[in-house]
This record gives sequence, C-alpha cells and structure tokens, in this order.
Amino acid sequence: MYLDRTQDQMLCGEHGETIQKMMRLLVRLGEIYSADKMIPVGSVQVAGVSYKSIKEPGTQFLEDMAKTNVKVKVLTTLNPAGMDLQDWEKLGFPKDFAKNQQRIIKAFEQMGVITSTTCTPYLAGNLPRYNEHLAWSESSAVSFANSVIGARTNREGGPSALASALCGFTPNYGLHLTENRAPSIHINVEAELSYSADYGLLGYNVGKAVKNKIPYFTGLPKTTTTDNLKALGAAMAATGAVALYHAEDITPEATQYSTKTLESLTITQQDLKETHHSINSDNKTELIVLGCPHASLAEIRQVALKLKDKKLHTPIWICTSRTMKDAADHIGYTQIIENAGGHIVADTCMVVSPIEQMGYQTTAVNSGKAAQYLPGHCKQHVVYADIDTLIDNATS
Ligand code: F3S
Repeated sequence: MYLDRTQDQMLCGEHGETIQKMMRLLVRLGEIYSADKMIPVGSVQVAGVSYKSIKEPGTQFLEDMAKTNVKVKVLTTLNPAGMDLQDWEKLGFPKDFAKNQQRIIKAFEQMGVITSTTCTPYLAGNLPRYNEHLAWSESSAVSFANSVIGARTNREGGPSALASALCGFTPNYGLHLTENRAPSIHINVEAELSYSADYGLLGYNVGKAVKNKIPYFTGLPKTTTTDNLKALGAAMAATGAVALYHAEDITPEATQYSTKTLESLTITQQDLKETHHSINSDNKTELIVLGCPHASLAEIRQVALKLKDKKLHTPIWICTSRTMKDAADHIGYTQIIENAGGHIVADTCMVVSPIEQMGYQTTAVNSGKAAQYLPGHCKQHVVYADIDTLIDNATS
C-alpha cells in the first residue's frame, strides 16, 4: 500500500509510540482489504463508549492511551454512553456504573474528542457532505451517512475509528470506492408505510433477508422523511449488515443505478405483519423507550404535542443527543414531557444503558433496531408499536 511521507513517519514511530500503534492497525486493515493507499477523513465517529460495552479492560485501554497525550487530528464525536451524563442520578442509574462511565468520557476528552455522545452525529454538529470520506463506527449512522447523505464510510470498529481519529486517515477500500457502491438486490415495497415503526419493520425484514448486500428500494412513499430513513437503515444494519442502501427518487446516488439486472425481492403488508408478530410479546410494558436511533427535534416535538396536558401511567424515555435535548429544553418540549411524567434522556439509549440492572424486563419500542438488540443485550421482552399507539396505551 502506498504511504505518503507523513504516513510513513507515523508508521516508523516518528510521531510517538501510540500513533505508531494506531498507524500499524490502519495499515494492517488496509492490507487485509487490499487498499491501495490511505485517504484523509473529514470526521470520525467512535463506538464503544458505554461502560456496559467496553467494561474495565476497554476503560483502562482508553485511560492509558489518553495518558500518552495523543490528540485527535479531525472532528471526532462519540456513540451513546451508558447513561445520561448530567441527569443519571435523577434517572436512577447505578452510582458505580456512573463513576466508571465518567472515566471513559474523561479519557476521550483528554484526547481532544468532542464528547457529544450520540448515534445521530449528523443532527448534532458532525454533518458530512456528499462524497466526503469518513471513519464512522455506529452502524445506523454509517447507513445514514452513506445512503441518505451520500458520504463514504465503512462500518468501522471502535479501535479502527479511534486510529483514524488519531492519524487522520483511513485505508481506501470498501464503500470508499465508487465501484463498491452499486446496488446488489432490488427491494420492491408493496406495503403501506406511515410511521417510522413501519420502516423499522421493513428494515428488520430486509436486513434479515439480504445480509450485507446493497438494497435498491422502489415503492417507498413520496412522504418518506429523514426520520423514516434513519429508522429503516438502523434496522437493516441490526438484523443484517447493510451499510448502504439506495431508494428510488429519495437517496442521492439512486439516480446512478437501475434495477434491471438485479435479483428482486418483494415485501408485502403480510410480510410486515408476520415480522411484527414475531418480535412482539404480550407482556405488560414497564418502560417505553423512543429514540432509536436518537430522536430528532421533529420526533421530540411529536411526542410533546401528543403528551400535552396528559398523564402517563407507564414511564417514557425519549433518547436523544444533548444537542437535541438542549433545543427541546429551550423550546419547552422537555417541560411538557416532564409534566406528563416522561423524560428526555440524553447521551445514552435503551441498548447501551444498564436497563436490566435498573429492574426493567419488558420494554416497548417503535424501532426495528431496538427490537433486535433488546432481548440479547438487555434481557428484555419487547412490545413493538408505532408512536401513537404506544403513547395512547400509556395515557389511557
Ligand atoms: Fe442509537 Fe442505541 Fe439505537 S446507539 S441506533 S439508540 S441502539
């Protein structure tokens, strides 16, 4: 693989031992995937932030790295942490967990990372442009960046993303190359899609069927929003390994391709009904968690309008970034939601927080990704419904 002078110096240890190790990791990755060179990245998003995920060894690794005084070279933000970094105590997060989570955030801070902990960095100050090269690791954000924005990123692991942040480069392979971005399967949607929960079911279904192929969707409604697309991409990345999809008349690269020679799969209303049936349990909901991926301001607004002057008998968390939470505070949505008995929970989500330790066993969601991960990662039974049904059931 070709390395320029700076990259070569990094590899030879002239920029310090930590940078050398990180560069070695990137070069090894590039060799495995036959990359021809390193390319600069516009931004990085690092996963593996919750203490629940990386535990003590991961925390110590980050602390040791921070002690060497290395700093990130490009805009770098983080995936959700394991708790609301401000309101953790009020929300009942365990004290020892909080202490360890704070060590992780401090280590990242010392390395110059912007400790905005969200899976929707594009809504919180880390918005790439079309064709920009990135090294992002959160699968739903990778899907959104590649598909909806038309930026270019592979699905990085936490360590390779951190290496890119510290070196400023990523190996040129996979979805960075135009020839690897063409669709490989046509998905013909013949189901009605209204809520993000419907797009989540569609994504859940398609991800399982296509694994790591690149779907080209036809039949998505003209009313499809960016929130719907983030729900779709997140679910496909969770049940499959879809890191890029195209949607006719909706996503930016779709016009470059056609479905003529592709294998085709039709998804009907009945398919979505069966998927819904397979993930939904009859258990009594103990906690409703919305915001997977992290809620946009439009989604928070929708909940606030629905909860105005109502009282919840089942608690609701709306997970979002600190940026969206601050905006919701400012506009007054947070107050409305809290008056009803709900919470806007920033910096974390239902999957990476220790909700099982907090005593919950059945969680209601409107997200295909959350429905996929909650049983395995958090020992939860899942109730699946759209946002209106969930709130109606929790207030009637
Ligand atoms: Fe984000 Fe957590 Fe869902 S990281 S995509 S809210 S599982």
